[in-house]
Amino acid sequence: MNTTQTPCRELQVLSCRPGTEPTLVDLVLSPPGWTCRAGQFVMIRPLDWGSELVWPRPFSVCDVSDAGLRIFFQVVGRGTRKLAGLQPGQKVAVWGPLGRWFRIDENRPNLILAGGVGIAPFVMLARREKTDNLSMLFGHRLDLCHYPYAEIADRIESEAMRQTTAADIAAFETVLSGRIKTLSGIGQVLACGPEPMLKVVRRYCLMHGTEGQISLENRMACGVGACLGCVGRTVTGEYVQSCVHGPVFDVRDIDLGE
Ligand SMILES: Cc1cc2nc3c(=O)[nH]c(=O)nc-3n(C[C@H](O)[C@H](O)[C@H](O)COP(=O)(O)OP(=O)(O)OC[C@H]3O[C@@H](n4cnc5c(N)ncnc54)[C@H](O)[C@@H]3O)c2cc1C
Ligand code: FES
Repeated sequence: MNTTQTPCRELQVLSCRPGTEPTLVDLVLSPPGWTCRAGQFVMIRPLDWGSELVWPRPFSVCDVSDAGLRIFFQVVGRGTRKLAGLQPGQKVAVWGPLGRWFRIDENRPNLILAGGVGIAPFVMLARREKTDNLSMLFGHRLDLCHYPYAEIADRIESEAMRQTTAADIAAFETVLSGRIKTLSGIGQVLACGPEPMLKVVRRYCLMHGTEGQISLENRMACGVGACLGCVGRTVTGEYVQSCVHGPVFDVRDIDLGE
């Protein structure tokens, strides 16, 4: 890892709370002394991880303020399982802020399309940006109370749709398509969520001629452009590193292999 060019801070765990749904975790670290833009991410690695977990893990910044650096994550494997067990006072190495962020256009409607833990970067966005011209459609699988949805819905016009069946997913896609079409020529969408959802968002943006930005969660090892672990392809066939050229891309530039 290129630690000479990437700011690394040693932060302390202030709280780590799996809620009533143990796979979703709200982690707050001590204030990092920097600020960032919504869509940027950090690489984090607890100092006590041994050689079996060499690489840090990437997470969107959910929020950052004097109260600390907040990450909202889902337990999916070894690293996130260990992160979920962090205790207050433990030390974590944090590289960041990294990557490119969502560009808001204050003068036109901006529709957030978030899926599952893809809601994380929009907590900071809703708190910081002017709330006019910003709205959200949120698709989720688990009960709404497990996500930081209410924090966003308190500030901007928001709608949530739960998907537990194939019919729910189809209904969500129909609403998504309609919303994206409505913004054609007059606004843009900002999307973060599972790759199948991003493919749908991209397809409808291109179909309806609507501007859009999507945040990709390609697997990453270094986070700073040094390992080629996160490459994706542009529509012109070039390979780009998602950690430095993204993770937020214009839908017209990136090929998701649909
Ligand atoms: C820029 C960026 C921002 C991210 N922000 C968040 C966030 O805010 N909240 C959150 O919960 N997660 C986020 N992720 C995904 C998160 O980094 C991975 O879930 C995590 O690294 C998995 O680590 P693990 O050791 O638990 O999983 P592993 O043991 O490495 O893998 C377990 C399973 O998870 C899958 N997996 C691993 N990494 C990813 C990934 N990046 N995307 C999809 N599937 C993956 C693997 O294929 C495997 O099936 C982000 C990823 C990126 C690149
Ligand atoms: S994660 Fe290493 S180049 Fe992007």
